Amino acid sequence: MIQLRFISAFALVLFIASCSNNSEQQMGLITENAMVVSARKEASAIGADLMKKGGNAFDAMVATEMALAVTFPFAGNLAGGGFMVYRLANGDVGSIDYREKAPLQASEDMYLDEEGNVIPGMSTTGAMAIGVPGTVDGILQVHEKFGTLPLEEILSPVIALAKKGFVVTEKQEKRLKYYDSILTAVNGKPLDEFSGKKEGDTIKRLQLAQTLSSISKYKRDGFYAGEVAEKMVSFIQEKGGILSLQDLELYRAQWRAPIQFQYENLNIISMGPPSSGGMTMAQIFKMIEPFNIGQYEHNKAEYIQLLTESFRRAYADRNFYLGDPDFVDIPTEQLLNTEYLNDRMSNFTFDKATSSSTVSKGEVNYAESDETTHYSIVDQFGNAVSVTTTINGGYGSKLYSEELGLFFNNEMDDFSAKPGVPNMFGLIGAEANKIQPQKRMLSSMTPTIVEKDNELFVVVGTPGGSTIITAVAQTILNAHEFDMSMQEAVNANRFHHQWLPDMVTFEPNGFDDATLEELTTKGYIHNKGYTRIIGKVDAIKVLPSGSLEGGADPRGDDTAIGF
Ligand code: GLY
Repeated sequence: MIQLRFISAFALVLFIASCSNNSEQQMGLITENAMVVSARKEASAIGADLMKKGGNAFDAMVATEMALAVTFPFAGNLAGGGFMVYRLANGDVGSIDYREKAPLQASEDMYLDEEGNVIPGMSTTGAMAIGVPGTVDGILQVHEKFGTLPLEEILSPVIALAKKGFVVTEKQEKRLKYYDSILTAVNGKPLDEFSGKKEGDTIKRLQLAQTLSSISKYKRDGFYAGEVAEKMVSFIQEKGGILSLQDLELYRAQWRAPIQFQYENLNIISMGPPSSGGMTMAQIFKMIEPFNIGQYEHNKAEYIQLLTESFRRAYADRNFYLGDPDFVDIPTEQLLNTEYLNDRMSNFTFDKATSSSTVSKGEVNYAESDETTHYSIVDQFGNAVSVTTTINGGYGSKLYSEELGLFFNNEMDDFSAKPGVPNMFGLIGAEANKIQPQKRMLSSMTPTIVEKDNELFVVVGTPGGSTIITAVAQTILNAHEFDMSMQEAVNANRFHHQWLPDMVTFEPNGFDDATLEELTTKGYIHNKGYTRIIGKVDAIKVLPSGSLEGGADPRGDDTAIGF
């Protein structure tokens, strides 16, 4: 908890600093043809350059994803997973799930001691926390289905970047400093590549360049078989993990139908299970739709109440019903049924807060995180992709293979290690999300594309663990209900509620005292005196003129680049 509070304080300082730099900016970058918005300028530039050379959004996706692995090792990855939602220029939509899976040797009680208690840290740190990586198969399947440029041409600038290195930013320096001792402890020694690096230093990723070259040359077999796979598995097993060559051989990303729902004149397309993002956001929008939320003042008491009460009810359902659709039956129709959702809101009143104990029950401590990363792309042909990718915690399991240049995920923590016990995001799981071999753990990642009157309107997503869904929902409402520019919609202060703990979390400085006092009077518990940032949203809006406006989140080093 001390560690998490430190991150929050640190994040708050970053947020305030970045806001002051951007306080007068109302519009983000505007371009005529194509754009990438991501957590690092190098990654956005590589994706945009490929499109300038004639590649499409999917070519740019492959390059951006890998460039984030090079320059943003905190969350960018090869040994993690993610989700992509796309909309083609002709209006066809789809999604790919490259979420990690539990290894074959995983079991329901693998993180429990003999008394049946969760062993602290086992699902979050070190080799036992690692799920079977999905990112490389994900990008290769995307390339195979939609790519237009040869893989070698796409990966060549990424490999060059890894060899040349990237320059450490102020925010990176602070993160590296903060994580240095835990990286050292988990790996048994300081990591030469990262330890002690300061703002302005260059970090070269020479071993990662070799791993990328192996993928460029041998494609799937350059990662899931052969030398890289053997080195990966023997490294993880030496460190006490259970990942096997068979796990790697069996791993396949899955094309899935996205969740689509109408909200006023919007068609919102988002990720379905094993992400909870699309379902939970659909419930939220459907619950607020009858209230005409645009009539309330933005970020004032009634607006906050209405959203909070929809968040509370949607997260209660999320945590109970959702899991990997290949393993559990999800009552999708029921959960998205308008009558059901109206009924869920029938005990809501503006007079006072609903208690989460009347929605369901449980007592947890609050944990938080801003790991994971999101990027949005629109190409010059009109295709759009929205991608959120992660190794879960910052630097994942913290375990790093110096030989391969890889941080490994700690995605196993997104399973419910024991029903009723919260994970690192404070989310309480249930039976639907219990650990089973080859099962995918439930996610909150919410890569989303919004159509307005059947035309592409917004491409959006964010990191932020359990806060992802509520941050994406608020950004869409900002753009749609409050006509904010994309940059304003991204900059606007956010708040979050996730059913349990029964607390509204507000970002710093964006909510006036009178509003907070009114909410207190009505029975809302909130994070008074304890502030944090919520998400780092990267988004693109199609303006009425057809131009693109980027919304790159000033809470991070996020950058929009296009032409
Ligand atoms: N690991 C964060 C998420 O998938 O929601």
